[in-house]
Amino acid sequence: MIASVKALQGRDFLDIADLDARELRQVLDLAHSIKKVGRRPGRPLDGRHIAMLFQKPSHRTRVSFEVGIARLGGKSTTLSEQDVQLGVRETVGDAARVLDRYVDGIVARLRSHQDLLELAASSTKPVINALTDRSHPCQVLADLVTLEEVKGELSKQQVVYIGDGNNIVASLIEASALAGFALTVITPPEYHPKAEVLERARSISTGKLQVALTSDLAGLDDATAIYTDVWASMGHESEMEARRKAFAPYQINQAVMESAPRAVFMHCLPAHRGEEVTDEVIDGTRSVVFDQAENRLYAQMALMTLLLGAGE
Ligand code: CP
Ligand code: NVA
Repeated sequence: MIASVKALQGRDFLDIADLDARELRQVLDLAHSIKKVGRRPGRPLDGRHIAMLFQKPSHRTRVSFEVGIARLGGKSTTLSEQDVQLGVRETVGDAARVLDRYVDGIVARLRSHQDLLELAASSTKPVINALTDRSHPCQVLADLVTLEEVKGELSKQQVVYIGDGNNIVASLIEASALAGFALTVITPPEYHPKAEVLERARSISTGKLQVALTSDLAGLDDATAIYTDVWASMGHESEMEARRKAFAPYQINQAVMESAPRAVFMHCLPAHRGEEVTDEVIDGTRSVVFDQAENRLYAQMALMTLLLGAGE
């Protein structure tokens, strides 16, 4: 039986920065132990019902949450864009107040981070961020589990992210601040992560923030992981032509991986093969992308146990 930790019970998880370093460690440790016990994690969500709201498409997030909730003994209702029509049929706040009367927690993938903050403010039940335009903290929890599995202690690692300074990067930067790994973010000049992301990371950092931003695709020799994501995130599809031009020099191909001889290859998926990554790299022996996808399940099961679990 996996024990719940009281400090996290009832809390929201909107960003990695909502945790402190010790709480992040608890989530990761629990994720590793749940992975070890496999399908027998106990039933901490017995009698709990979770609503999932999706304003954008999803494969991994939807399935891993639904499976995770079921394995923990809970039940879920998944609502698509057409069902609730947040901000169209009713305000975000009203929708949250209604859900609050029915369910024990809300997992939400919303277009706007601001709407997620409003949802969380209007709900007394825990709200979990399943991706917004600002961040994707559940993905990064799974990424940290994966990095520990394949490369050991986080604080000894040098993660290099190459591509768009997007929601994945914002969560990686916050993770670097709490877990103490070095993170280099290499983007075309106009696609750097926002200054406010770095400010927030500085404010939660356990030591000096080890995040470097550059546009120079060099110095990969000591990288323990090379991480990329799509060049145009959901909602930015109309910018694809301009982005293809700006990002072309930042493709992860065999030459890039050869300049990082110790690194694994990471991608949150879905991948656009032939754009940000070549088939050779994503299908190569150093690719851990499907481990990342698998670990969504365990990371989220750990998170839900701590936030929503019945406790001991
Ligand atoms: N990585 C991830 O969140 O995938 P989905 O968009 O398919 O959920
Ligand atoms: N940055 C991507 C991540 C998808 C999981 C997006 O927001 O579309």
